[in-house]
Amino acid sequence: MSKDLDLAIVILAAGLGTRMKSKRAKVLHQAGGRTLIEHVVGTAAKLVPPERIFVVVGHQADAVQDAVKAPVNFIRQTEQRGTGHALMVGREVLSGVAENLLVLYGDGPLITESTLRGLLAAHSAGAGVTLLTTELEDPYGYGRIIRDEEGRLVEIVEEKACTPEQAAIREINPGIYVFRTKALFAHIGSLKTDNPAKEYYLTDMAGVLRTAGFRVETRKAPDAHEVLGINTRVELAAMDALFRDRKARELMLGGVTILRPETCVIDADVEIGMDTVIGPSVALYGSTRIGGNCVVRPFNTIRDTVIDDDVIVEECCWMEKARVGRGARIGPYARLRPGAEIGEDAHVGNFVELKKARLGRGSKASHLAYLGDATIGEGVNIGAGVITCNYDGVNKNQTVVEDGAFVGTNSSLVAPVKVGKGAYVAAGSVITQDVPAGSLALGRARQEVKEGWVEKKKKPKC
Ligand code: UD1
Ligand code: CA
Repeated sequence: MSKDLDLAIVILAAGLGTRMKSKRAKVLHQAGGRTLIEHVVGTAAKLVPPERIFVVVGHQADAVQDAVKAPVNFIRQTEQRGTGHALMVGREVLSGVAENLLVLYGDGPLITESTLRGLLAAHSAGAGVTLLTTELEDPYGYGRIIRDEEGRLVEIVEEKACTPEQAAIREINPGIYVFRTKALFAHIGSLKTDNPAKEYYLTDMAGVLRTAGFRVETRKAPDAHEVLGINTRVELAAMDALFRDRKARELMLGGVTILRPETCVIDADVEIGMDTVIGPSVALYGSTRIGGNCVVRPFNTIRDTVIDDDVIVEECCWMEKARVGRGARIGPYARLRPGAEIGEDAHVGNFVELKKARLGRGSKASHLAYLGDATIGEGVNIGAGVITCNYDGVNKNQTVVEDGAFVGTNSSLVAPVKVGKGAYVAAGSVITQDVPAGSLALGRARQEVKEGWVEKKKKPKC
């Protein structure tokens, strides 16, 4: 927080967002992998401690409160009668919290800490309100900034009320204001609903404070993109692209190579180490962490997964809540479901699926296997087509394969079952009993050969 400014932050997030055409409150929609409200609260939390943040909630208040993970305060606006009304209902709580109130809208998630700090620095002692403005190529939908001949702000006119001359003004109100708290609440009662929407507009406070003799100051936002609001799904998609772009740039500047970053979808919280190469069309979601010097080839989807250094993920893998150890090789076409843990230098190849299963260091499951509820030791070879039969129709059972074991192609390990250290399971076996260490288990019908059978079959019956 600016040291000289006694500040609290109010975030307005009570509206439904009719233009989204959604049953979900607008601030619960996501851009860049986070809900809109999380973005705004996250930025606010860089300026003041959470106890100085107040979120005004109304539509789906409980869900919005749940989405905000920080221990902030909430104000309920049960009836949404406009952005001015959202502050009126908070009057009692907010009057005494701080000398200045920074007001943000929950649907403007791109705003950065540094732009807000610039606004706070511009808010001089004599001003009743200082607000951010910006110029847009296409100002449609935003409140227009009306200035007098001396360039002083006179009022903000909403789109619906604009005359054609006013509609042509490109300087707009992004909805980011810092108010002198006392001035705001001394005069908020003067807001009227004499507008096309019949709402109490917070934007009218600029004119109200000016008439009451306060200075109304403005500051231009350095980056017009940053202050954009979201009202429709089209704007949401554009905003999402901006977030992805911002995230990819941040990663690239941190030493990650991203080939065709415009095709990748990387969530805000994802971390990637230096010299890792991310191929085209890769989606990295949630709390995924990828180490340094890895290669993630095209068409991978990785969610909430931790990957250590020097790992290669070949094309088209799917991972969720998995862990991959240093130097491992995954894919192409591997599926790591929650609880999959791949050891150092291990290999999981094509069409191999793991669920709640650990594959030890240097072990290999190179083709067509299902390993569920299993603990596989180090240096184990899992042949093509090996299946752990982990479900007996009622319970999930465990399979254990100890270090150095060799499980032959197309074997079924019927759990609960254990293959001991260094043991061999012959190809095509159905293993229903534990295999002791160092032994060979065969669990299949003995082959029969009927010599000359084909010729005999061909002979006509007479
Ligand atoms: C508002 C501004 C407009 C500005 C634009 C910037 C007003 C009157 N207009 O218009 O000048 O250019 O934002 O994006 O303020 N909200 C509540 N309670 C309510 C109404 C709204 O909490 O009763 C919240 C909404 O949830 C939303 C925010 O306030 O997060 C803005 O409301 P919205 O209806 O989107 O305002 P705009 O019409 O976009
Ligand atoms: Ca809006």
